[in-house]
Amino acid sequence: MKGAVHSAARHDSALKHVTGQALYIDDMPEPPGTLHAALVLSPVSAGRLAKLDLSATAAAPGVVATLIAADIPGRNSTAGPGKEEPLFAVDRVEFVGQPLAMVVADTLDAARAAAERAVIEIEETEAILDVETALARQAYVQAPSTLRRGDPEAALKSAPHRLSAEFTVGGQEHFYLEGQVAFALPGEDGDLVVHSSTQHPTEVQHVCAQLLGCDFNRVTAIVRRLGGGFGGKESNASWVAGAAALAAHKTGWPVKLRLPREIDMIATGKRHPFLYRYTVGFDDEGRVLALDAVLAADAGFSLDLTPGVIARALTHADNAYWIPHFRAAGYACKTNKQSNTAFRGFGGPQGVVVMEDALDRIACHLGRDANELRALNFYCAGRDETPYGQKVEENHLARCWAEVKQGGDFERRRAEIDAFNRTSPILKRGLGLFPLKFGISFNLPHMNQTGALVHVYTDGSIRLNHGGTEMGQGLFIKVAQVVAEVFKVEVDRIRPSATSTAEVPNTSPTAASTGSDLNGWAAWEAANTIKGRMIAFASEHFGAAESEIEFADGNVRIAKPGSNQVVSFGELAKLCWMGRVSLSATGFYKTPKIHWDAAAMRGRPFFYFSFGAAMAEVAIDTLTGESRVLRADLVQDCGASLNPAIDLGQIEGAFVQGQGWFTCEELWWDAKGRLRTVGPSTYKIPGSRDAPAVFNVKMLENAPSREATIFRSKAVGEPPLLLATAVWTALKDAISAAGDRKTAVRLDAPATPERVLAAIATVKA
Ligand code: MTE
Ligand code: MOS
Repeated sequence: MKGAVHSAARHDSALKHVTGQALYIDDMPEPPGTLHAALVLSPVSAGRLAKLDLSATAAAPGVVATLIAADIPGRNSTAGPGKEEPLFAVDRVEFVGQPLAMVVADTLDAARAAAERAVIEIEETEAILDVETALARQAYVQAPSTLRRGDPEAALKSAPHRLSAEFTVGGQEHFYLEGQVAFALPGEDGDLVVHSSTQHPTEVQHVCAQLLGCDFNRVTAIVRRLGGGFGGKESNASWVAGAAALAAHKTGWPVKLRLPREIDMIATGKRHPFLYRYTVGFDDEGRVLALDAVLAADAGFSLDLTPGVIARALTHADNAYWIPHFRAAGYACKTNKQSNTAFRGFGGPQGVVVMEDALDRIACHLGRDANELRALNFYCAGRDETPYGQKVEENHLARCWAEVKQGGDFERRRAEIDAFNRTSPILKRGLGLFPLKFGISFNLPHMNQTGALVHVYTDGSIRLNHGGTEMGQGLFIKVAQVVAEVFKVEVDRIRPSATSTAEVPNTSPTAASTGSDLNGWAAWEAANTIKGRMIAFASEHFGAAESEIEFADGNVRIAKPGSNQVVSFGELAKLCWMGRVSLSATGFYKTPKIHWDAAAMRGRPFFYFSFGAAMAEVAIDTLTGESRVLRADLVQDCGASLNPAIDLGQIEGAFVQGQGWFTCEELWWDAKGRLRTVGPSTYKIPGSRDAPAVFNVKMLENAPSREATIFRSKAVGEPPLLLATAVWTALKDAISAAGDRKTAVRLDAPATPERVLAAIATVKA
């Protein structure tokens, strides 16, 4: 059957994506009278807004309205109750790029030109622009939190060996191809429809209603697809939509707000940069006895999703390793920069690097192979409880590790690379391995819920709607496959429809890689309800037992003794309608088994873990600091994959995106706190030639999830991004080969040519 679960069905929009026929918000036909908006942004990183004069802006050609905080009828906040995140700054300015006002004009060019005419006077105050300063001043967006087990202080004191180190990782711009955009259309009685490129339609609905001071039922948020989100449209899309909604409300006309790339990069949050300081204790064998780590995140000016990012960083600082005495303290540093936000991995990537760095140093100290020490410290039977109290069940670490080493021909290539390095004075090669354990579920249990709405029409075609958003990751086809499987029809008979708060309400964002886990089950529930009604009807209609009604190959067979009647799925749907049977149903799903005490940092935050392993080979030029990834071998646990074609794309894409974070993507702010890397010319994302020349990706075979996930599949959206940690480790290995291999390498990320050169200089000194 075409498009059944576990089959490699093509993305439902694949052809539309590559031919340009997929409709994004900016492609939607504009109703007559549509207006366009542009933002007025703060040029200063900290200060008091002394004057905001928009008279020249208002007088500019084509301008219909200007909007400031005082024009907001509801609450000037784009955050939940009690949180302070103004749509337009009032009085206090907190970063370069903070929205102060908005202009609405009859054309986009007119709006943008008029925005330039705003006269802004800000009395500057001292800004905090880095994590160190924020730590020293205890400037935080939330109180520090600590994940702790055992007695790390005493265990460190009594450990045979101890090492301390410090390093940093940078942030990362999402660089979704479609920038932030929203199109708000006013209706009667103040009703509003907002098309938004958002991962979180329900939050768009709430933020619009909060700004307008109206009930949630007045606002409908609709999302057909996003041109990429990667976490950047989980919270940031809400204020963009809110601004468009406000303008539509004020002017009574449809208003579109689309941020040009530069404005998008200046005004919206990114991945959190982190600073680490840790001490690790270990024995002569290289067994880790204790870890005491500080993870300090650059949160930017406001809270946003920082609490979740910190929680995930802390719950992933153990990565694949059993650490009996453990302390990880998370600091959410408040700086005068963009408010940092979700980005694929959501703090997980920033968590796992701690132990990877520590194990490289331990190996260097003991003169051992770091990869042996990794395996020695893996979670295993009897050593299987995480510092937060969840058991590591269904542990595939050893298996992924063995498969990646075997597939990548580890022993031979290690020897080959060492031989190469002995005779190559300028170019050096390095090999890095990485084991992965990534927890699946939102850390906040209440977020792990969603709904679906399925209609069967009388021709047997099916309309599918659910709470998840499609951002290229293939969620719509996966959920359609689930419904096709329930009804045993071809997946082409199922029409996925735009996510809408009017169809499935009160949803969570499509994030934390949970999209297909949650929405797959909700759609299964809805489809199964309808199927149950169809079976009951058919049983009565055909005088057969319910167990004799069989759905197969787009048909329904009445398999009662002595008869072998077959009707098409559509014919049965029509008969059901004649018999006045409802062919529409909702479904609901909430993840079982999870609980979390956020204050104590204990519980079972994750329904299950996803595992993996990676091996990367790099080459560096010790004169220029340039690097290349020559080869990568990946093994990723996808359970029983719902769609191996989609999952393969997710693994490859995530790895290369992670590679970008570790190597070439550098955000650079000047001394005034102005982001100077605001486009592809200065901010380098990996291109096609940066993908590993040899790229072997495998899904772990015969590894169906032991938990009751949808058709035993596992989430795949984020975990493989972390596999790129192997690239960072490989770079350190190559740098170490430029020295005497006795000096541990500090390599801050991103490992730009400058940083690689500096690290080489240190190991040579
Ligand atoms: N893949 C594409 N093509 N585009 C995206 O924006 N976002 C990633 C991942 N894969 C993303 C993507 C992120 S951050 C998450 S959380 C998951 O997809 C969300 O979708 P899922 O839960 O359906 O996997
Ligand atoms: Mo993904 S960072 O959870 O949107």
